[in-house]
Amino acid sequence: MNVEVSGRMVAKVGRAPVIELRDVSKVHKTARQMIRAVCGANIRIEAGEFVSLLGPSGCGKSTLLGLVAGLDQPTSGTITFDGLQRSTSDRRVAVNFQEPALFPWRDTKRNVTIALENRGLGRAQVDAQAERALEAVGLSQFQNIYPSHLSGGMKQRVMLARLLAMNAPVMLMDEPFAALDAITREQMQDLVTRLYSARRFSIIFVTHSIEEALFASQRVIVMCARPGRIVHEVKLDEGYPRTFDWRLSDKVAALRRELHQLMRDLDAGGSGGEDARV
Ligand SMILES: Nc1ncnc2c1ncn2[C@@H]1O[C@H](COP(=O)(O)OP(=O)(O)OP(=O)(O)O)[C@@H](O)[C@H]1O
Ligand SMILES: [Mg+2]
Repeated sequence: MNVEVSGRMVAKVGRAPVIELRDVSKVHKTARQMIRAVCGANIRIEAGEFVSLLGPSGCGKSTLLGLVAGLDQPTSGTITFDGLQRSTSDRRVAVNFQEPALFPWRDTKRNVTIALENRGLGRAQVDAQAERALEAVGLSQFQNIYPSHLSGGMKQRVMLARLLAMNAPVMLMDEPFAALDAITREQMQDLVTRLYSARRFSIIFVTHSIEEALFASQRVIVMCARPGRIVHEVKLDEGYPRTFDWRLSDKVAALRRELHQLMRDLDAGGSGGEDARV
């Protein structure tokens, strides 16, 4: 797969808000226990910034993303967009969940248009937005194909098209490529950086892959578990789109080593030894 991405294919989006999380904590309550999923997170994401949230399983990445998406409320702390309390119905945010969620009875195009239903848009506009998004991910030829006939990588491209079709200036992506083979995954990372390069949305990209975070983002925020909290941050000033040379560069190799060591140390130290249960 090699999809050419031009600005024309990626719709104009409004300006992204500055997103600020101040002292954000989230306790999940179950019938049997309370889990401190996120503890005292302070993050500022500039308009148009590409940030990765990196950390091991259970460190609260999806929880944090759900809070920014407005799908859940923090137990304490505040989340603001351009200084205003984040409202639950903010259409500036589009989110992709961790599990691919394609409807088997809908073809590719209708799996994209579903994101635009109930928005009061006319059929022609919905179709045009979906077609443009499918063009951007290289699936124009597959609009009428059903999910059972798509490869894993193609399904993820449909999910990406659904996200793009919403024309939201903030895109939240939760481990979108985790289930893909290494080569397809690299191709998808490449596609995301080319889309980002064509139109600077803000992206919060959740991953547990150090390589993926370093390749794609401008800033990597490292979290650790028990309880989930931010422990480190890496800034990358490399431009976009990112190239194969960047992936193999000495800088990425050195940072990869540093982050591997950090995560091993955190794991060996039991992430501070605290328990996540409240
Ligand atoms: N709805 C929920 N109810 C109760 N506990 C939850 C809920 N969602 C998450 N948790 C707990 O909160 C902690 C953080 O979970 P979360 O899904 O945010 O982690 P994650 O970093 O996204 O992990 P993964 O990499 O495996 O997706 C875990 O201990 C998890 O068991
Ligand atoms: Mg998760």
